Amino acid sequence: MSYLMGIDLGTSSVKVIIMNEYGVIESTAQTSYGISIPEKGFAEQDPEVWWSATVKTIQLALKEASIQSNEIKGIGYSGQMHGMVLIDKNGNVIRPAIIWSDQRTINEVDEINSSLGKDYVGKVTLNPLSTGFQTPSLLWVKKYEPTSYKKINKVLLPKDYIRFRMTGENGTDVTDASATLAFDTKNRVWSKELILKLGLNPDIYPIVKNPSDIAGEVTLKAAEETGLHKGTLVVYGGGDQPMQSIGNGIVKPGQISLTIGTGGIVYSVTAEPKYDYKLRTNTFCNAVQGTWNIMGANLAAGLSLSWLNRNILSTLSYKELNELAASISPGSEGLIFLPYLIGERTPHMDASARGTFLGLTLKHTKANLVRSVMEGVVFAFRDSIEIFKGLDIKMDKFIASGGGARSDIWLNIQANILNQEIYKVNQPEQACVGAAIVAGVGVGLYDSIEEACTNIIKIKEDPIQPDPQIVDLYNETYPLYKEIYQQNMETFRKLGGVNY
Ligand code: XUL
Repeated sequence: MSYLMGIDLGTSSVKVIIMNEYGVIESTAQTSYGISIPEKGFAEQDPEVWWSATVKTIQLALKEASIQSNEIKGIGYSGQMHGMVLIDKNGNVIRPAIIWSDQRTINEVDEINSSLGKDYVGKVTLNPLSTGFQTPSLLWVKKYEPTSYKKINKVLLPKDYIRFRMTGENGTDVTDASATLAFDTKNRVWSKELILKLGLNPDIYPIVKNPSDIAGEVTLKAAEETGLHKGTLVVYGGGDQPMQSIGNGIVKPGQISLTIGTGGIVYSVTAEPKYDYKLRTNTFCNAVQGTWNIMGANLAAGLSLSWLNRNILSTLSYKELNELAASISPGSEGLIFLPYLIGERTPHMDASARGTFLGLTLKHTKANLVRSVMEGVVFAFRDSIEIFKGLDIKMDKFIASGGGARSDIWLNIQANILNQEIYKVNQPEQACVGAAIVAGVGVGLYDSIEEACTNIIKIKEDPIQPDPQIVDLYNETYPLYKEIYQQNMETFRKLGGVNY
C-alpha cells in the first residue's frame, strides 16, 4: 500500500493527515498556535513556531498511523494564503511573518490604488488590493523597516517556508503566487512590470510551479527532526482555499463550495481568467492547470462565532452554541449581525468596516446573539453569490465545508438564506486531503487531480433542503442586512479615525 501526507498550515493550527492511496485517512494530528498582535490591527506569526508545530504534528501523525515512514510516497502542502515570510541569504527568517488578517497596510493600499490606479492593478492581478496581502505588507516593511528590507533574499508564502525547511529549496506555486498581488494571474507568471512600478525588487520572488510539481526531497536534517524518510518526494502544494476545494471535489465550473473556517469562502472554478471589474471578489489561479477560481472572501466567519463565544459568552461548547441557535426562530427575532470584526473583503473590500448588531431589544438573549452571528455569516455568503450571478458564474451544486459544516443549524441557515440544496462530502479535513491528492498526482499515484477526486471524494446524498417559508423571511431580511453597511460605511471610517 502507498500512503500520502497532507500538511495544512492554518492560521490557528497545523494539521497533518496520512492517507492511503484509496483516500482512507489513517491518521490525523493537529497542533495549535496563536497570533501575535504587537499593535492594534497587526497580525503576525513566527515561522519558527510553525516549523516546530509541524515537526511535532508529523511525528504524532506517523505514530498514530503505525506505518513505516518510507511507505509515504509523497508530501503535499496547503497553507494560509497571502502572508509574507522574509528570508535572508542564509535562509534565516528576518522578521515575524505578517499574515493575511493583518490590517496595518490601509495606507499602503490607498497609496498604490491612487498612484497606479485600481483598474491597472485589477487588470494585471485580477484582484483588488487588500490589507494582509503580501505586496502591501512588503511595501510596509520597505518603508518602516528598511534594514530588514535590505536583508531580503527571498519572499515566501507561509506554507513555502515549511517546504523550504523540509527540502532546503525555496519556491512557490501558482495558487499562492496569484494571491500576493505581484502576479500576472492570467498568464500565470510574476508581473515584473507591476513589481518594478511598485518599487520592489523582482529578484526576491521565488520560482513558481504548479501545485503537483515536484519541489524536492525531504533532507537528512528534516528527516531526523520529523521522523520522515530522507528522500521522500515533496510537491509544491497550494493555498488553503484551492486545496480545500480539491478536498471537496470542486474541480470544474458549476461546483461551488461554501467554507466556514476562521474566514468564510465561497469558491467557484472558471475555465477562463474571469474577474469582477468592480473588484469585489478575488480571482486566483486554480490548482487544476488551465483553470482559475473566483472567490468571495469573508474575513470573520467562524471567527465571529468564536469571538462571541470567547469574549462575550465565556466559552460554551460547540454543542451548546448550536442548541442556543436552534432554540430561536429564523431571523433571530429581528436581530441582524454584520460579521465585519476585522474589516471585510467581499463585497466591500473595506478594512474600516466594523462588526455590528442591529435591532437589539430587551427580549433578546444570548441565544439571539448566537443565531444572528450564524445568519450574518451566511448573509455575507449571499453577497458573494449575488456577485457570482452577475458574472454569469455557473452554479449547480453547493457543497458546505469547514467547521461550519459540522453544525446542522448552520447548514440549515445556509440552505434557507441561499435558497439552495446544501451537500456535504465524505472526506473530513478537506484542505489536508487536497494537499495529499496533489502530492499523489506529483508522484504518479494518480493521473490527474480530476481523476483522484472522482475516485476519492464522494458527495453524500440527502442534501439539506430549503424551506420556502423561511426562504421568504430571509429574502425580506437580506436587503436590510445590506442597508446596514451602506448607511454606516462613513461612520465606520470616522470611528476608525478616533484615537481610543
Ligand atoms: C483566502 C484567505 C484565507 C486564508 C487563511 O483568501 O484569506 O482563507 O488563506 O486561511
